[in-house]
Amino acid sequence: MPRRSATLAARAPVPTASLPLHRQLYEQLRAGILGGQIAAGSRLPSTRALAMEMGISRTTVLAAFEQLHAEGYLEGRPGSGTYVPRALPEELLSARSQTPVAPGEPATLRRLSERGERIATSPRTPLPALTGRSADQRAFTIGLPDLDGFPHDLWTRLATRRLRESSWDLMRYNHPAGYAPLRHAIAAHLATARGVRCTAEQVIVVSGSQQALDFCARMLLDPDDPAWVEDPGYLGARAALVAAGARLVPVPIDDEGLSVATGMAREPDARLAVVTPSHQFPLGPTMSLGRRLALLEWATRTGAWVVEDDYDAEFRYVGRPLTALQGIDGRGCVIYVGTFSKALFPGLRLGYLVAPPQLVDAFISVHLGTDMHAHVLEQAVLADFIRDGHFERHLRRMRVLYAERQAVLVEAAKRELAGALDVTSSESGLHLIGWLAPGLDDGMVAREAAAEGVDVWPLSLHSLHPYPRAALLLGYASLTPREIHSGIRQLARALARVRGDRPGRRQAGRRPSSRPAGHG
Ligand SMILES: Cc1ncc(COP(=O)(O)O)c(C=O)c1O
Repeated sequence: MPRRSATLAARAPVPTASLPLHRQLYEQLRAGILGGQIAAGSRLPSTRALAMEMGISRTTVLAAFEQLHAEGYLEGRPGSGTYVPRALPEELLSARSQTPVAPGEPATLRRLSERGERIATSPRTPLPALTGRSADQRAFTIGLPDLDGFPHDLWTRLATRRLRESSWDLMRYNHPAGYAPLRHAIAAHLATARGVRCTAEQVIVVSGSQQALDFCARMLLDPDDPAWVEDPGYLGARAALVAAGARLVPVPIDDEGLSVATGMAREPDARLAVVTPSHQFPLGPTMSLGRRLALLEWATRTGAWVVEDDYDAEFRYVGRPLTALQGIDGRGCVIYVGTFSKALFPGLRLGYLVAPPQLVDAFISVHLGTDMHAHVLEQAVLADFIRDGHFERHLRRMRVLYAERQAVLVEAAKRELAGALDVTSSESGLHLIGWLAPGLDDGMVAREAAAEGVDVWPLSLHSLHPYPRAALLLGYASLTPREIHSGIRQLARALARVRGDRPGRRQAGRRPSSRPAGHG
């Protein structure tokens, strides 16, 4: 039994608890003072007496007292001892009178700003699990590259070399535009791989393309400014625009990408358009040259900005990709956005934007006022990785691997899901669209699939106006053929249940699989 102090509302700290002893004692005394069990103005026993009474060392008591002194919960009176101050600081008293707000409980006295409310209530994609690899390995989680295929050992070697140098360059505040060698490496890569026309000075390294989208929205739009968004389109782009107070103008997608004519009919005076011309997210078409020229003509004529999100352009499996929109923009209206989330791994949180020269300084300012700059060590390691040719090699290997995996997915879906889900192949990207048979609701199928242990995002999640056909998004790049096959079988069970097929009814009593696809 822990001993309790005869004079204080405190129990002797327990050596096995996860908090250190002095911290436990500090917490107890603090709670006693705030809760009024240890009265204001009362004298505390001496540290020696309290230590003896509780059977703990005096050093432990001294450490707890020291902390309470430093925070104003105790005061020493020379020659007299240690007291709880009569007048506790104002904020302590108000903290005492309030019961803590439980997470999720509406706070009655404080509220979010209107902007905060808009951010908090915008649709968002399901959050990844906090720990473990199983969530990532569920078929068909979208947006993940092959993490096992990443050259971890090599990356570790490069990082270790950089850490050993531990040079000033990496440790001090860096330039908000990014680590100079990385900016040069990105500019050179974009020139050859994407036909982007820029100098290294126009490249601004950011924490993933989400930050680039956020910067564009905040720097280029005022509240209520209309902005064209692809419909269906990327939730991340929509979230950034909503956070900046923009008015979303949904523009439909067809085989040639964004319907510029519809955009012009709906809102000719939009200030900005966010597009994914290389591989429209999520439907997949490449924007035709005609549409590209029409978009640029509109932007030039009206003074609008075009944000080109080139999120997975590295992964094209047939022929050469069309040059980036930025490469044919002669008037400086395109802001090009790229990421290493697909080419390397998303936890890296490194991306970039290529700003027209007249915007570079403004983007530097917003970076300074946001988080100053991206992590320098990672930027330096990445610069080495690109400089030494590993980046290009990795991309070449991944292209072959992903093309094979896509073929496995299309084949398996054809065999197992015919009549329920039509998965069509694509010349690029890391995910495919599966069109559902008429009458099936994509949200319902996604929920049943989740219960079976597979993640398929419903197309409707990404649509502002209902899309005429229901579909699922299936990521495949991170999955081995075995995991793809097993995921397809899980999906078949979910589909059968939704359609009320006999095998589905037989399966209906099964518990959902909690094991990662391909491991069971
Ligand atoms: C359309 C689109 N843009 C950008 C990204 C990448 O975002 P980030 O660089 O912030 O990881 C994704 C990832 O799924 C995406 O689908």
